[in-house]
This record gives sequence, structure tokens and C-alpha cells, in this order.
Amino acid sequence: MPAWTCGSGSEHRAACTISKMRNRTLKPIVFSLALVPLLRLVVLGMRGELGANPIEMITHQTGLWALTLLLATLAITPVRRVTGQLWLIQYRRMLGLFAFFYAVLHMLTYVWLDQFFNLQSMLKDVVKRPFITMGSAAFLLLVPLALTSTQSAIRRLGGRRWQQLHRLVYCAAIAGVIHFVWLVKKDIRQPMIYAFVLAVLLGYRVFIVLLKRYSLRQASRAASVAQAEAGGND
Ligand code: HEM
Repeated sequence: MPAWTCGSGSEHRAACTISKMRNRTLKPIVFSLALVPLLRLVVLGMRGELGANPIEMITHQTGLWALTLLLATLAITPVRRVTGQLWLIQYRRMLGLFAFFYAVLHMLTYVWLDQFFNLQSMLKDVVKRPFITMGSAAFLLLVPLALTSTQSAIRRLGGRRWQQLHRLVYCAAIAGVIHFVWLVKKDIRQPMIYAFVLAVLLGYRVFIVLLKRYSLRQASRAASVAQAEAGGND
């Protein structure tokens, strides 16, 4: 239960206090944990322990964390539905923004450290190397989501339009996984694990949509039967 829904009634107030306490302790923990991969890179960098190819190491780590956090963001809704832990929703935006944060670092590593802002060389890469095209697509899809992640953006767009726009997160995740699969030359086990997790998350989403449609159809069928019976009784 979000803290702002605190109302009167002792049960409600108790649930509210628990929610506030959980937020006060868990939010800073999740926030700090999400910064660990960056801090690790900084510490390794200062010690000169980023390996033989530091740019490659930074690119790999930031890319991996961008995708990991993106999938974690997508996992929030199924996990909260399956476990009944509805409060998890409060962490979705934070994880999504951290995914974008690592995607920005990843993209900047490429643009700055790898390509030295050479626009011509980057354009050539985007056209000639399909995995770079896919990575750029994934990044571009994440931009509008990050820009509209605030409460005021939700109000401005309206809930329905905001939700429709934010379905792009699935396309971004698909593009991110394809980017990963395409760039790996030999051992594709790791990208395949990401592909599998994404397939499960998408499968769950499709299952829920089909279930909703089925229930609606059943409800409308039951309503017409009831109506026909009521007509017969007249
Ligand atoms: C402008 C956009 C992007 C560019 C130019 C880009 C470029 C790259 C490059 C050059 C590599 C290293 C390839 C190699 O080792 O040969 C890489 C790896 C990777 N990228 Fe991206 N990328 C972009 C966006 C993204 C996004 C948005 C995600 C995630 C959602 C992502 C996830 C990954 C992953 C998971 C790896 C592999 C890491 C590993 O090998 O451990 N990339 N990317």
C-alpha cells in the first residue's frame, strides 16, 4: 500500500506504518545495490584492474547491467501478481530508471571512449553492424520511457496513453536481447539465458491477456444466456 493512501481505521493505519517502514529501509538498500556495478567499475578503474582492455570491460559490464535491470523491471508485475506482494510496484520505476542509467553509460562508453565522437564512423557502424543497429534501437526505445517516468508525465499523458507508451519497454527488451545474441560470436549460452527469461516474461504477459479475453467472453456469454432466460420467462 503506498504511503499516501493512509487513511483512518486501525488496520489501515497499521498497514500504512509497515509500508512506510519498509520503504524507509528497503528503498535506500535497493538504490545502493543498483549502484554497486558502477562503484565496482570505478574502484577497479582506480586500481588499474580493468583488464587488458578497459573499454571492453566497461562496455560489457554496463551493457549487461542495463539488460539485467530491464528484465528485472519487467519481472516486477508478474512477481507481484504471483506472490501477492503488491508493494513491489513501488520499485518498478527505480529499476527501470537504473536500467536506463546503465544504458546511457554503455552508450557513452561506445560514443566517447570507443569512437571518440566520430559521427561518420558511428553511422557506418550502425549501418554495417546489425548488432549495433539493434543496440541503438533498444536505446532509442528507452529514451521516451525514461522521459515520461515522472508522476507529472503520467498526469499529462493520461493513464491509458501512458500505459500504451510504456508497452515499448517490451520492444526495448526484445531489441536488447537480440543485440546481445547478435554480438556474441561463439558461446551464446549467456545471451540465451537472457532470451529465455524474456520469453517467460512475455509468455506470462500473453497468458494474462488471453485469460482476460476469455473471462470477458465467458461473462458476456453468461449475461446473454441470463437475458435469454429472462426473456423466455416473460
Ligand atoms: C546506442 C546503443 C548501443 C550501442 C552502440 C551498443 C554497443 C555495444 C557494443 C559495442 C558492445 C560490445 C560488443 C563486443 O564485445 O564485441 C555491446 C555489448 C552489449 N550491449 Fe550494447 N549497445 C547499445 C545499447 C544497448 C542497450 C540499450 C542494451 C540493453 C538494454 C545493451 C546491452 C548489451 C549487452 C548485454 C552487451 C554484452 C555484454 C557482454 O558481452 O557481457 N546495449 N554493446
